[in-house]
Amino acid sequence: GKPLVVAIDGPSGSGKSSVSREVARRLGLAYLDTGAMYRALTWHCLASGVELDDAVAVEASARALKLEQSTSVEHEFVKVGDLDITEQIREPAISSAVSAVATTLGARTELVRRQREAITHAAKRMVVEGRDITTVVAPTAEVRLLLTASEEARMARRGMQLGGTQTAEQLTSQVLARDAQDSTVVEFQRAADGVVTVDSSDLDFEQTVAVVLRVVLEAV
Ligand code: C5P
Repeated sequence: GKPLVVAIDGPSGSGKSSVSREVARRLGLAYLDTGAMYRALTWHCLASGVELDDAVAVEASARALKLEQSTSVEHEFVKVGDLDITEQIREPAISSAVSAVATTLGARTELVRRQREAITHAAKRMVVEGRDITTVVAPTAEVRLLLTASEEARMARRGMQLGGTQTAEQLTSQVLARDAQDSTVVEFQRAADGVVTVDSSDLDFEQTVAVVLRVVLEAV
């Protein structure tokens, strides 16, 4: 088929990952979760004793990372070497450390290179989700979307994802701290030129998927 890259950016808790997966499934496209790549690199740095504020070491780890990631929504996994770390990369320890890795510019360069390779490998028929997809990784994507939601809606969704073990205040401060740190290197709070904003604050999951699908179908 023709190239159809659907680039979706947004902050954490915007519903980006679940919506992106469902859109990929409905359209029969491959799916790339770029946040999982930053998380896998963070896991590797922590596991191998790399100091996260050592930019040279983090960049070297990124280049050497033996990362294997599925691009099929039917069977998702993330492996580093022989180890399946699909579950581990979602742990709070990774979430709170990942921004330090993601703000290391040399590491970003390496992961962006791999993301572009993955898009090419999928014959450019892929939903790609992250923070800098519409602007840096795939600025010429056929469809470029920014998925936003009010702070209130985002916190409520994060709370549900974590199973409610943390207080609302803890959650809010963690998520906002991560967004603030991420914002120092990537702009994902405002839509770049030509990027369509979808605000999901007052939409449920199915409605958000429907809006995104409509934007995609209008573009092709
Ligand atoms: O999307 P997710 O919350 O899993 O992303 C985890 C982290 O990875 C973000 O907080 C950010 O630091 C980093 N990230 C990034 N650029 C992307 C995707 C994720 O910097 N394209």
